Amino acid sequence: MAARIIDGKTTAAGLLAELKEKVEAFGKTGRTPGLAVVLVGNDPASAVYVRAKARQTVEAGMRSFEHRLPEDVSQDQLMRLVETLNHDFAVDGILVQLPLPPHIDAAALLSAVDPAKDVDGFHPINAGRLATGDARALTPCTPLGCIHLLKCVEADLTGAHALVIGRSNIVGKPLGQLLLGENCTVTIAHSRTRDVAELCRAADIVIAATGQPEMVRGDWIKRGALVIDVGIHRIAANNGHRVIGDVAFDEVRDRAGAITPVPGGVGPMTIAYLLQNTLKAARQRSG
Ligand code: GUN
Repeated sequence: MAARIIDGKTTAAGLLAELKEKVEAFGKTGRTPGLAVVLVGNDPASAVYVRAKARQTVEAGMRSFEHRLPEDVSQDQLMRLVETLNHDFAVDGILVQLPLPPHIDAAALLSAVDPAKDVDGFHPINAGRLATGDARALTPCTPLGCIHLLKCVEADLTGAHALVIGRSNIVGKPLGQLLLGENCTVTIAHSRTRDVAELCRAADIVIAATGQPEMVRGDWIKRGALVIDVGIHRIAANNGHRVIGDVAFDEVRDRAGAITPVPGGVGPMTIAYLLQNTLKAARQRSG
């Protein structure tokens, strides 16, 4: 039987509608949550994401502040901007769009963001809070979106064997923590893992964040498994381009129990959770 297609677009729209009501209720306390986005350089994909974030921030009833800086901006200038945003009362969330140019020390910059405003959840304090199960943690948005989509299919993930393919600080590692929190048995595979296909065949849940187009093949998937595809790759196709993921969708859909499409799966959920994190930061800052 063909897999259920997990509709991230509709799920995210529902989350945003709920969020809008919560933002309105929060507004009655006299404040509107604000999200500042810092974009460096002219990467077209980043510009598209930042525009989508700004539009949805305003649609959710929040304030959006955009800071665009040239490719050759210095580390000092960026550090000063982050300091200014840290001290700006109207700013509840700060997001520095990645990737940054190679002359910028991204880790130093991300560590300069006030952890209370770190809506990406990239600051070491938030990573530590997530790892220790501290409810104040601001948690990376893509992993939160993945868990939400899994729970749309299976409300209780207890005991499932989850395989995460990818060990980035943005997706793989925090996702491992969240899956542990859901009582899964977690394996994290990566580019040096010996036989990822074999690990995959034993998994009830597969989350692909490999950065490799269509790496996960149909014969890697146990029948009925839940498959979440975090990848997004634009590839040239007749007369334009096509967007594909880290999973060979047409092969996997015949074996999986449920699968996220690309586009329209994890992507829209990431923005929904970014805005959710902004409201959480605003509430926590209001104490
Ligand atoms: N670039 C691609 N994904 C992300 C993300 O989740 N956060 C930030 N800041 N930059 C990104």
